[in-house]
Amino acid sequence: MNQFLNIGDISNLNTTVQDAIALKNNPFAFHSIGKQKTLVLLFFNASLRTRMSTELAAKNLGMNVIVLNVSDAWKLEFEEGVVMNLDTSEHIKEAAQVISQYATIIGVRAFPTLTNKAKDQSEWILNAFSSLASVPVINMESATAHPLQGLADAITIEEQRQQKKPKVVLSWAPHPKALPHAVANSFIQTMQLQDVDLCITHPAGYDLDPKIVKDTPVFYNQEEALQNADFVYAKNWSSFNDYGKILTPTSDWIITKDKIGEAKFMHCLPVRRNVVVEDAVLDSSQSLCIEQSNNRTYAAQIVLKQILESL
Ligand code: CP
Repeated sequence: MNQFLNIGDISNLNTTVQDAIALKNNPFAFHSIGKQKTLVLLFFNASLRTRMSTELAAKNLGMNVIVLNVSDAWKLEFEEGVVMNLDTSEHIKEAAQVISQYATIIGVRAFPTLTNKAKDQSEWILNAFSSLASVPVINMESATAHPLQGLADAITIEEQRQQKKPKVVLSWAPHPKALPHAVANSFIQTMQLQDVDLCITHPAGYDLDPKIVKDTPVFYNQEEALQNADFVYAKNWSSFNDYGKILTPTSDWIITKDKIGEAKFMHCLPVRRNVVVEDAVLDSSQSLCIEQSNNRTYAAQIVLKQILESL
């Protein structure tokens, strides 16, 4: 693998999931592969899990790690041909080349604007690094994708499945703020590659990008979708068509113990308790959220290992 911008950059999801589970059982098996290599992590936005699990994954492989909160550096300019006489101090053309000199691999986290759909869909920040850096780039959640989360979720489902082909339901859930589509997009794309029976449920108006959903069944009735579910994955996202907007109040879409029955509950975290999902679910043995976070380390570790092997 020579980059990890999307889940499609993995050549074989099932093999990669099995290799990640093997790494989880023996995290230091490849502790020399990253010796004298450096992972630079660039955060344009906040993070708890991605920041810590990716750093831990790199260190398990023997890599050095440099983390930069981009807001602490010079303000970057991304436009071509611009007269830089306003508030941007450094162009991405120089910055990407400079950082490439310090890095063997660069990780980038850059959320969408949720106001400019065309700009977000173009993945302007992630793709600027990908095209201008001279080293591989990994996506630590971009405007439209969060493939490290998707891979961790695939690992979790593989570990927890009781059925050959479990029913997996991605359910929209309420949230007070307008949130991106990245986690939902990558979860759908990953489940489309895994041997599961996937469906999506959300209120009218919250349809996701049809290029992502493809022929995955969509239900506007949550109760109908949740019937006989083995895994319920809750996530909020703002409207894609009425871009970045929160539509009419829909607090009745909260995930409750009654609604999910015996199904396992999943969420990428952070989660707003008793808004997205009630305490009774999160505090029960049905919740896989903490294990999903644990698996973020092994998702990052297998991706870094595959990239290091390709250098
Ligand atoms: N799930 C996830 O990516 O968490 P962070 O935003 O804390 O990194």
